[in-house]
Order: sequence, then C-alpha cells, then structure tokens
Amino acid sequence: MDMKNQKIYYNEDADLNLVKSKTVLVVGYGNQGRAQSKNLFDSGVNVLVGLRENSDSIKKVKQDGLNPIEISLGVKKADIISILIPDQTINKVFCEKIAPFLNPDHTLLFSHGYNIYYKKIIPPLNVNIIMVAPSGAGLIVRKAFKKNSGVPNLIAIHQDYSRNSLKLALSYSKAIGGTRAGSFLSTFKEETESDLFGEQAVLCGGIPALIKMAFDVMVESGFQPIVAWYVCFYEVKLIVDVFHRNGFKYMYNSISETAEYGGLKQGDSIINEDVRHKLQTILKDIQTKKFFNEFEKDANNNFVKLNEMRKIKFESLFEKVTQSLK
Ligand SMILES: NC(=O)c1ccc[n+]([C@@H]2O[C@H](COP(=O)([O-])OP(=O)(O)OC[C@H]3O[C@@H](n4cnc5c(N)ncnc54)[C@H](OP(=O)(O)O)[C@@H]3O)[C@@H](O)[C@H]2O)c1
Repeated sequence: MDMKNQKIYYNEDADLNLVKSKTVLVVGYGNQGRAQSKNLFDSGVNVLVGLRENSDSIKKVKQDGLNPIEISLGVKKADIISILIPDQTINKVFCEKIAPFLNPDHTLLFSHGYNIYYKKIIPPLNVNIIMVAPSGAGLIVRKAFKKNSGVPNLIAIHQDYSRNSLKLALSYSKAIGGTRAGSFLSTFKEETESDLFGEQAVLCGGIPALIKMAFDVMVESGFQPIVAWYVCFYEVKLIVDVFHRNGFKYMYNSISETAEYGGLKQGDSIINEDVRHKLQTILKDIQTKKFFNEFEKDANNNFVKLNEMRKIKFESLFEKVTQSLK
C-alpha cells in the first residue's frame, strides 16, 4: 500500500484565524471537553462552555478561567458547536437543547462519528457537520498541547453547507494542537467503525482479556499472584513503549533470542485463524449495526448488562492484586 498518497495536514496547511473569527461552544466539560476548551482558549479562540443547568462543572469551568453557559443559550451565541458529551446522551441533548436553535451559519463538530453515522441524530441539511477526532484521551490532548506538541486528529466532513468546512475543521484542529502532530482525512463511517473495532478487538477487549487470562493461568498453576501480575501486566507498558518507538522488528531486535523465538512461535499459535474469524465477526457486527443495537438497548435499560460485566471483571483477583500494588 502506498502511504505516500495519504495527505497529512500540518500547521502550515491550516489557518488559525478562521476559527479565531468564530465563537465556539464546547458542549460538555469532561475528558475531551475540558482539554479542547483549554487548548482553544490558549490558541486565542473565543470559547464558551455549554453545560446543563445546575451542572457540577460550572465551578470548574470558572476556576479554569473560561465562561460557562447553559447549552441552548450558548447555541444562540455560537458559530461552531463542538459536542463533547457521552455518545449515548447526544441524541436527547441535541433534540432538546441544540436543534431548535440551529441556523444556516452553524457548524456542528464531533470528536466521534457514532451519532451521525448510525443516524441517531439527523441534523438539518443547511448546517455544516464536521469531525475533528483526537487520537487520544483528553488528558493527553492537553498535556501534549502544553508541551508545544499535539495529538494527531482524524478529520471528516459529513455535510459541507458553507463550502469551507475542511478549512474550518483544519483551523479547529490547529487550535487544539492536532496539526502540530498531523491531521488526516477520513469519513464518519471509517472513523466510527475503526474506533469501535480498535476498542473491541485490541485496546479495551483483546489486550485486557489476554492479560487477565494469562494471569489466571499462572495463578491456577501455583505461581504467586504478584509474580504473575508483573510478568503479564506490569511489563506490558515496557514492551509497548519499545515497539511503539519503531515497530515490531525493532522490538524483536531489542530482546533476547529466547524471547524472540518463543514470542514469534507462540504468538501465532494463540492468535490463530479462529481468532481471525472472531475479529471478522466483531467487525461485521459493527458494520451491520448489531453492536450498535445491542449497546443502545442496554444504554436504554440503565446499563444492566454493562453493570453485570463490570461486577464480574472488577471483583477478580487480578484487580485486587493491581489495587494492592498501585
Ligand atoms: N474519552 C476519550 O478519550 C475520547 C477520545 C476521542 C473522542 N472522544 C469522543 O468525545 C466525545 C466526548 O467524550 P468524553 O469521554 O469527553 O465525555 P465525558 O467525559 O463522559 O463527558 C462528560 C461531560 O458531559 C456532560 N454530560 C453528560 N451527560 C449530559 C447530559 N445528559 N446533558 C448535558 N451534559 C451532559 C457532563 O456534564 P456535567 O459536567 O454536568 O456532569 C460532563 O461535562 C464523545 O463523542 C467521545 O466518543 C472521546
């Protein structure tokens, strides 16, 4: 695959003045909301933070030197509405607090394509709908920005009513530090499906489950939990740092021959064709909306199923050992 054709946008490709000429309402002051608001403010952008009435975050926003405002009042004053609240709450907030006050000058901005791609919300045709999705948690987005660096952003345009949405998205990306690291074009479909697949298959599904099972096997075979914990969990961070620096080949060159031989042989025996089929099913369930329907059903049922899974996972010996050592 020729990666040379993948356009990556850097600071010189984006005009900060575009977003600085607008008022941005950031709805929500959590993980992404706080980080993006502070970065926008430090870049000289006029930011309002949209919160629900009596929100506990009003005090925090004021302490950070920013201006809180009730969401629908903020929509009336803003040009760009950056919706940074949990994905399962966006539908209700959008219908009640945002949609009734939209006009053709508005741009709706998301950091995840979920609500638009799965058509949980269908905004009017006469607004821009764009995405600037940082590839990292809010804390990292803020930390990198303060170090004069940034986290890469995935950018997508779903509706380009004003005919300058890409320029606007790049300008916002520059203001939160994204184009310092590099921002690249995607689509709402690709971002949503890839984000969900990455979470389920690798980041929050496959890796934690493999660690936990390997830990359980060692403890069941008589190893001390602390020994199993160090080798299966603690050392993950060390090895990830090594291959993150320059890839797997570099990692294999940096370890012993015993580790390399055992790793290459057994890696393929664990992650075999059965696993490939399971991964394909996970992706299919995302693409056919099966996962979406299941998740939404549980979200509408007060997360009964999620809470059951939490109970089983979080009361394990592995978690107890982690808490005692952290
Ligand atoms: N978390 C990440 O690392 C990450 C990374 C990339 C993209 N994203 C995307 O960024 C978006 C925001 O995610 P997040 O993790 O930053 O969210 P979050 O931290 O869970 O959002 C918390 C904020 O949402 C507000 N909120 C919650 N329910 C609300 C409601 N019903 N009405 C009004 N406000 C409500 C809270 O208000 P109060 O202050 O009043 O409690 C709080 O300010 C999502 O689309 C997500 O997919 C997240």
